[in-house]
Amino acid sequence: MAVALAPGLIHHPGYLDGDAQAALAGQLAAALRLAPPYTPRMPRTGRPFSVRMTNCGPLGWVSDEAGYRYQPTHPETGEPWPAIPGIARAAWDALARCAAPPEACLVNLYAPTARMGLHQDRDEAALDAPVLSLSLGAAALFRYGGLRRGDPTRSVRLDPGDALVIGGPSRLMHHGIDRVLPAGTDLLAARAPRPAFLPAGGRCNLTLRRVTAIPAPAAA
Ligand code: SIN
Ligand code: MN
Repeated sequence: MAVALAPGLIHHPGYLDGDAQAALAGQLAAALRLAPPYTPRMPRTGRPFSVRMTNCGPLGWVSDEAGYRYQPTHPETGEPWPAIPGIARAAWDALARCAAPPEACLVNLYAPTARMGLHQDRDEAALDAPVLSLSLGAAALFRYGGLRRGDPTRSVRLDPGDALVIGGPSRLMHHGIDRVLPAGTDLLAARAPRPAFLPAGGRCNLTLRRVTAIPAPAAA
């Protein structure tokens, strides 16, 4: 059952069941062997993020002293990013209501103490396409506000298997992760083998994004 948290901000609790979460984790484990997680750095200061990242898809979002950007290759290996996992791509087709495919799938890996400050996803030209978030592993407290940084905020718990569509009037809302919550509902915890990229108490979030402008439909 979908819940509209705000116009265009649609929460799908438990969108991926335990089997789908395990299958997505398997697909991700294969992708991460090709595109190993790395520690991004803040623009200018070079301060490390507390979250580790990698990407799948033709483009990947990266951050370092030179700034935020999308690029077609892994910043450390120089290799193209691997394909977006099939289960994540299927979720885009089912939930994003977007005529064009996603081009980037940012993979955020949270240790139990990691967090992500309030920010906007605004490095994409296709702001008419939503961002689709899928969560695995530990639950987390997701904070969301408005278009201005100082707008009031609320929080919602994202559990493993949850999908969140960030689109329409909410596409540019500020959001972040206050904290990863202690283990409790992590269905992958009960399954063996547990993927190495998701140790106990850790969280993984995927965000699928359309980056370049969506081509206009061909004239009939
Ligand atoms: C993000 O904003 O890139 C990630 C949000 C999340 O981890 O749920
Ligand atoms: Mn974001």
